[in-house]
Amino acid sequence: MANDLSAAPDPLTVGRYTASSVLVSAVDLQARVQALGEEITADYAGREPLLVGVLKGAFMFMSDLARAIDLPVEFDFMAVSSYGNSTRSSGVVRIVKDLDLDLAGRDVILVEDIIDSGLTLNYLRRNLLARNPASLEVCALLVRENHKVDDSILRYEGYRVPSDFLVGYGLDVDEKFRNLPDIRIVEVASDEAPEDHEGEVESAA
Ligand code: IMP
Ligand code: MG
Repeated sequence: MANDLSAAPDPLTVGRYTASSVLVSAVDLQARVQALGEEITADYAGREPLLVGVLKGAFMFMSDLARAIDLPVEFDFMAVSSYGNSTRSSGVVRIVKDLDLDLAGRDVILVEDIIDSGLTLNYLRRNLLARNPASLEVCALLVRENHKVDDSILRYEGYRVPSDFLVGYGLDVDEKFRNLPDIRIVEVASDEAPEDHEGEVESAA
């Protein structure tokens, strides 16, 4: 009813983006995150891991993951910006907000929303390892089936996902849909796909 001004706006369509197709339901996500937390609890028994979240995408996952870990944990966050277009990183990463805590001697778990090419992860691992943590592992909610990083560095992962652009549970397209409780495939209503944005822009993770 396009002319009915009293109709509630559809929260799954924002501008030219529509996020109607669910890839991972909220119920499945909660169960998977709980299982990851239990795995981390068992692996780090007797230790106090430091969770390092990459803003903004990882904030919701990290919040649920932390509550699923039955150990004393500490938190820190970094924000990075990568040069590329709005949906694809180039591997040229700039730290926009650095960590507050010293990583030396700490058992660090890097928490990421999605490993796409893996370029951001490669940069962050090198950067964090240079700060001499006692250990560094990666916990990624989503990992692309065709990522280009060595599988051995992906210690904890939630789901392998296809190449569709995904939103929800912290992930965005142009800052939209981060608050959805599930993971959805986003479609773009125009002949211009999100991959086709002109030029090199800097975008937040
Ligand atoms: P990479 O450097 O190619 O691995 O890109 C990783 C970053 O790109 C993630 O931390 C996200 O911020 C962003 N990204 C990649 N794919 C998606 C997606 O499908 N939805 C939302 N953000 C994505
Ligand atoms: Mg992003």
